[in-house]
Amino acid sequence: MHRARVAIFISGTGTNMAALLYASLRDDSAYEVVLVASNVATAPGLAIAEGEGIATFVHSHKGVSRADHDAAMERALVDAKAEYLVLAGYMRILSDGFVRRWEGRILNIHPSLLPRYKGLDTHARAIAAGDSHGGASVHIVTPELDAGEVLAQARVAIRSDETPESLAERVKFAEHQLYPRAVSNYVSRGYDAEYLYARVRELALALPETHARDSHGSPGFRVGTEKSGKFFAHFNNQHHGEEHIAVLVKTGGMDELLDLVEAQPEIYFKPAYYGASGWVGLILNRPGVDWEHVDEWLQRSWRSVAPARLTRLIGAAEMF
Ligand code: GRF
Repeated sequence: MHRARVAIFISGTGTNMAALLYASLRDDSAYEVVLVASNVATAPGLAIAEGEGIATFVHSHKGVSRADHDAAMERALVDAKAEYLVLAGYMRILSDGFVRRWEGRILNIHPSLLPRYKGLDTHARAIAAGDSHGGASVHIVTPELDAGEVLAQARVAIRSDETPESLAERVKFAEHQLYPRAVSNYVSRGYDAEYLYARVRELALALPETHARDSHGSPGFRVGTEKSGKFFAHFNNQHHGEEHIAVLVKTGGMDELLDLVEAQPEIYFKPAYYGASGWVGLILNRPGVDWEHVDEWLQRSWRSVAPARLTRLIGAAEMF
C-alpha cells in the first residue's frame, strides 16, 4: 500500500499532531508523518515528534516577512518530499501563493462546526449563542480563511454550566478521534476506485450530449444519442490484471500513444485491447493527479468522436 507522505505544521502543544502521529504508526495507516515543522522553537509538540524519531524543522516568524517565512517552511516541505500538509494548531495564515501551489493538499482542523464561527474564540461564541453543540471541523485549506470544503465534523454537546475552557477540553478529545481518520480518508481517496470514478463521471457527463454506458463490463461514456452514440472514454479499474485505475481516452493514433507512454510512463500506459486502436490510459491512482489535465483529455477525446453538429457548437462558443 502506498502511504502518503504527510507533513504537520504546529505552533503549540501539538496534541492533534500527537494523535495524528500515533495513528500513523499503525500498520494499516494510509499516511506516514515525514516532518513536523513549527514557527515556534519552544512548541511542546516538537519534542514529542523528536522523541518518536520524526524529522522536525523550526523557523521563527519573528522579524521575517510572511513571504520569507512561508518560503522557508515550504522548502522544508519540499525537502521532506511531503505530498500533503496537515495544519494542527498552526497559528499563522499561509500566503495565497503557498496555498495555491499546494491546492487540495493542505488540511486544517478548526474548533467549531463550520460554517459557524470562523476565526477565533469559537467556543465562547458557540456558548454565547446558546448552541446545543460545539465541535470541530476538518477542512481543505483555501486562500479564504476557514472556508474550504468541510471533509468531516465531530459534534460535542454544550452543557448548561459550560465555559469556553471546559468545552475546548472536550472538543480536543473529539478532534483527536476525528483528525487522523479524516486525513486517512482524504489521502487514500486518490487510490479509491469509487472516488476516482465519481470524478471522471462528473467531468465526462459535463460535456454536451453525453451518457454513461458499460462496455465489456467496465463503465464508459458516450457522446451522441443513446442509440448511435460513440464512446469517448472508458473507466478501467485494474482491468486485465493491470495495476492502474485509469481513464482511457483517444489519441491521434499509435505514434502519439507510444510517444506519450515513452515520455511519461508515470502518467500514461498502453491498455490491453483498446491500446491497439489508439486509446491511451491516463493513470489516476497516483499522487498529484491534475484533474484539469484529465478534463482536457476528456474534452479532446469527446471532440474526436462527437457529431459535427456538436463540435461546431463548441467551436462557436469558444470564439467568444
Ligand atoms: C485545536 O483546538 C485546533 O482545533 C486548532 O488549534 C488547536 C490545536 O491544539 N486549530 P493542539 O496544539 O493540537 O493541542
